[in-house]
Parts: sequence; C-alpha cells; structure tokens
Amino acid sequence: MLEVVFTKPALPRSGALVLPIAEEVTPSGLWQQADEATGGAITRGLTAAEFKGGKGKTCTILAPGAGLSRVVAVGLGKPAELGRLILEQAGGHAAAALARESDVAIAADGLSAEQGAAAALGAVLRSYRFDRYRTKEKPEDKPKLARLAVLTADPAQAQAAWQPMKALADGVFFSRDLVSEPPNVLNPAALAERCRKLADLGVDVKVFGPEEMQKLGFGALLGVAQGSANEPRMVVMRWNGTGNNGGKPVAFIGKGVTFDTGGISIKPAGGMEDMKWDMAGAGTVIGLMGALAGRKAPVDAVGLVGLVENMPSGTAQRPGDVVKSLSGQTIEVINTDAEGRLVLADVIWYCQATFDPAFMVDLATLTGAIIISLGHEHAGMFSNNDELAQRLEAAGRATGEKVWRMPLGQEYDEQIKSEIADMKNVGGRPGGSITAAQFIQRFVNDKPWAHLDIAGMAWATKDAACTPKGATAFGVRLLDRLVAEHYETK
Ligand code: BES
Ligand code: MN
Ligand code: ZN
Repeated sequence: MLEVVFTKPALPRSGALVLPIAEEVTPSGLWQQADEATGGAITRGLTAAEFKGGKGKTCTILAPGAGLSRVVAVGLGKPAELGRLILEQAGGHAAAALARESDVAIAADGLSAEQGAAAALGAVLRSYRFDRYRTKEKPEDKPKLARLAVLTADPAQAQAAWQPMKALADGVFFSRDLVSEPPNVLNPAALAERCRKLADLGVDVKVFGPEEMQKLGFGALLGVAQGSANEPRMVVMRWNGTGNNGGKPVAFIGKGVTFDTGGISIKPAGGMEDMKWDMAGAGTVIGLMGALAGRKAPVDAVGLVGLVENMPSGTAQRPGDVVKSLSGQTIEVINTDAEGRLVLADVIWYCQATFDPAFMVDLATLTGAIIISLGHEHAGMFSNNDELAQRLEAAGRATGEKVWRMPLGQEYDEQIKSEIADMKNVGGRPGGSITAAQFIQRFVNDKPWAHLDIAGMAWATKDAACTPKGATAFGVRLLDRLVAEHYETK
C-alpha cells in the first residue's frame, strides 16, 4: 500500500505536486509559491487547459520547472459544497494521474487536517492493484506511486484523522484481494482460513465445517454445497469494541459463493468466469470486520459468512429437491442457480438465534435482475425498517456507495408459494430481485433488517475515482460509516 506521511507545508524541490483547487479561488499558499517558483508555468498551464476547478476535472502540467516533474491540479468544485467525499475523489483522480511518479506531495495547506487525510484516503483507494499472479510484468510497466506526503498546517491532527481512514483502507484492500482471487485458489476452506488473519486485530474468529453444520441443521446451505468436492464453511467473526458483554451486537451477513456455475441449472459459458466474485457479499463483511477492528471502533459487531461452491455433479442437488432449512421451514429448490438465498437463509437464521442482534444487514450478489433495475449506480436495498433504511441511504450518499430502496410486499411473497413445501426458491421473472428479498425475509423474525443486493456493484469494468476497475469492496465504506454514525458507544 502507498505510504502516507504528513508534514508541514513546504514547497517540494523534486517529484510531483498535487494542487487541489476549488472553483473561483485565486492562488495562495503553496499554489502561489509553486507558481512563482516556476515563473508562472502553473497559471499558464491551467489557463491554456481552461481548468477552472470543476469537480472531477484534472489538469497535468509536465516539467513546469523548479525541479518538479509535474504538477497535477485537481478540481474540487464549488467551495460551499466541499465535503469529505469530494476530497476523497480528488485524491483518487490525482493518484490516477500520478501512477508514473514515485514521490508525490499534495498541497493540503488550504484544507483542514481531516480534509487532507481524506484526500490521502482517496489516493490510496485508487492506487489498489491486484498483481499477485503477474510474473512477467516489467518493472517499468508497474505503477510507481509509493509515497504520498500530505503538506498540512497541522500534521499531528491530520495523522490522527488518518488512523481510522488507514484501517478502513486496509479493510477495503483485504476485501478487494479476496474478491479478486481466482476460484481455484479461493475455495470455501481457503476463504475461511483467510478470515483467521482478523484474529491479529482482536477479532474472535470461529470456523464451522460441514459436520457441525449438519448437526445444527443447515439443510439449505448444505444442499447447495453437496455437488462440490470443496467442503463448505461458515465463519463467525466477532469484534466487541465496547467492553460490555450484555448488549445486542450489530450483525452483518455475507453470501460467499466462491464459484457459482448455477449447479444442475447450469449457467451459459459466456461470462461465467465472473462468478468467481459471487462471494463479494462475504468479502465485504470480512473487510468490514477488519476495518472496525483495525480502527478499534467502540461497537459490538458480528460478521457471518456462508461459504460454498455451487457445482453440478453426480452428488449435486436437483431441481425439484426439497430441503429443510435451519429454521425448520422447507424449501422446494426449483432452480439450483438461485443458491445465494439458500445459503443466506440458514446463516441469517443462525445469526438471529445465536446473537439476538440489534439489526441485521445482509449483502449478496444475489440477482442479475437488480442490474437490470439499477445498473451499476446503486445497490438494491430491501428493508423492513424505515430507520435502518434511511440511515443506510444517508451513509450511501456520504460515502458514494449508494443504495436505492426497493419494495417488499405480500403480493410479491405469493410468487414464492410452493405446491409441495413451505416455499420455493424462485418466483419467476417478474420482480426477480424482489422475490429473492421476500425469500430472505422469510428467515427474518421481527428484527430490523436490510438486504443489499450488490450484484451490480461488486465488480467494476471501468475505473472510478476511488475504485480502479475490478473488485470494488462495495459496502465496506458504507457500513463502516453506518456504524460510525449511529452504533458506537463512545
Ligand atoms: N450469483 C447470481 C447472481 C448474479 C448474476 C450476480 C450476475 C452477479 C452478476 C445468482 O446466484 C443467480 O444465479 N441468480 C439467478 C436467479 C434466478 C435463477 C432466479 C439470476 O439472477 O439469474
Ligand atoms: Mn446462482
Ligand atoms: Zn450466485
């Protein structure tokens, strides 16, 4: 990870300089000093490029003089609208423009300590890269960015603001690494082993194997797993940062299908490789637990992930099978490709019965239909609780990990009635994401609950400000913020 340091404002004599510039402001501080030291090259460059500080705009001036290799101006938009997210995004855009530089300084002298740290966070998040399996890349082709100095009036305060942000970035990177791994490497047992790393941060990690789940009665999850040579796992992670043991924890549950072939209801070949990231819900929960523990958040939180591989084979479950879930409710499996909800049904029930949580949020790459509904801009949110839903919406706006509330209702629930069992696992094409949510809701008692369908958000095919293409870790920042805003004790 890019190393971040905080120092007093002083014009660097080499390397690259980032100038965050809002609309309608005149040069001052380091910006003005750099302009003078370069004989006005920055003003000339910005004028020629018609750069006016618009949000998301950047302007690169190469070799402006004064020893600088380049200056990158990043637009902050209107000063009155400047918030943490815009600073993060500006840092992200700067990092993208500076991948070929090794040493970068960011002129944060016109910003608060927290804003300077936020710009660093954005730069770090954007500089993520998964290159574990590249053995032949030439060093000169690798991104060079290694060190980021934030030039700020109060380095100590900025450093303090950075601490929790660094923990968050670590959680995001952990999640992105897991989601990026190929499915032959990251099978359920391997993913469970990776969770154990969280113990170093003080997270209590318990791994359940197939025998234990069999004894407990996880019939829905085990039905999905039975076609695979790779055994399933459930991992229960607890971070108790409150010091008391009586309260109700907050709970996060993730779908962790390490590869989804569809099973006997097999998927078409084209694009099937994408189904390595069908464990992204679990990846987010794991990264979130890392972020909360890493910043020692004063919250009692549990994270549970159901890990399976959905394969066709002689032992695979068939369309028409009836399975008995941990809740006791029976399910007719019409389509073995609607497996995520079967996994979640048992893990959610276990979570509720074991921890009696204050609320539950589950995350899952659950339906292709949510991509048809919302594209790649919002996760679908389904909730039985207006307060929780509104808090999630607000956290989404604040972090840029946006959610859009979708409906639930009795009428939709009728679509999953079965002729032979308590319910069936698919409700037909109309409202496919909604009937999936209705299915999950049948495993939730009267507890505040939200389901986030992240199928359109977990993996990106284009770069965004703080998220290079690939695994996004969608939900880590969102839920970290939800917790920070509403569920911490101190
Ligand atoms: N993992 C998929 C959903 C998915 C699709 C995620 C595309 C990301 C991108 C899920 O298990 C699935 O196969 N859902 C089916 C449900 C259907 C059989 C009712 C779907 O969406 O087609
Ligand atoms: Mn599926
Ligand atoms: Zn799936």
